[in-house]
Amino acid sequence: MRKNILNKVLKLGVFISLFISTQVVKAQNLINGKKLYETRCLACHQSDGGGVPNMNPPLDGSSNVNGKDIARLVKIVKNGYDERIALDGMYYSNAMTANPDFTDQQIADVLTYVRTSWSNKASKITLAQVKAANSKHKISAQK
Ligand code: HEC
Repeated sequence: MRKNILNKVLKLGVFISLFISTQVVKAQNLINGKKLYETRCLACHQSDGGGVPNMNPPLDGSSNVNGKDIARLVKIVKNGYDERIALDGMYYSNAMTANPDFTDQQIADVLTYVRTSWSNKASKITLAQVKAANSKHKISAQK
């Protein structure tokens, strides 16, 4: 009987510590994402994610940022972006710089930050999603 209770307490302990450590990792990823944003994105997209009219698009409220095309977002962060096509009906004159030094985890973290900050409430981006997006690029690049 005693052993049984002890076992349950132990299992609960393992569960709680696993739960806490995943929460800590998630919180850490978000902090990392925020730091990356502040050092590498903020100058153009601004601290409120609002961008600069006609120059740099807003990330806050952007249908693409909150959308399902994760591969496109990964590619933009990695390679930069200078397509001059309409983004939510507006055009932007600046060219976004590339971030070739970012690791896949850093790309996941910064995208999670922009998709869950300000008024954005889109899903987080995992390392696995970034890796999947990378292989998608390779396939489309070979075409
Ligand atoms: C030098 C300024 C600059 C910096 C730095 C910059 N961006 Fe951009 N970003 C732009 C511009 C300009 C565009 C749109 C370019 C175009 O329309 O051709 C853009 C486009 C985007 C888009 C596509 C938006 C949409 O609605 O489709 C995303 C996502 C994005 N940037 C994220 C980021 C992230 C994340 C960082 C930091 C890692 C970053 N940008 C750093 C200027 C910048």
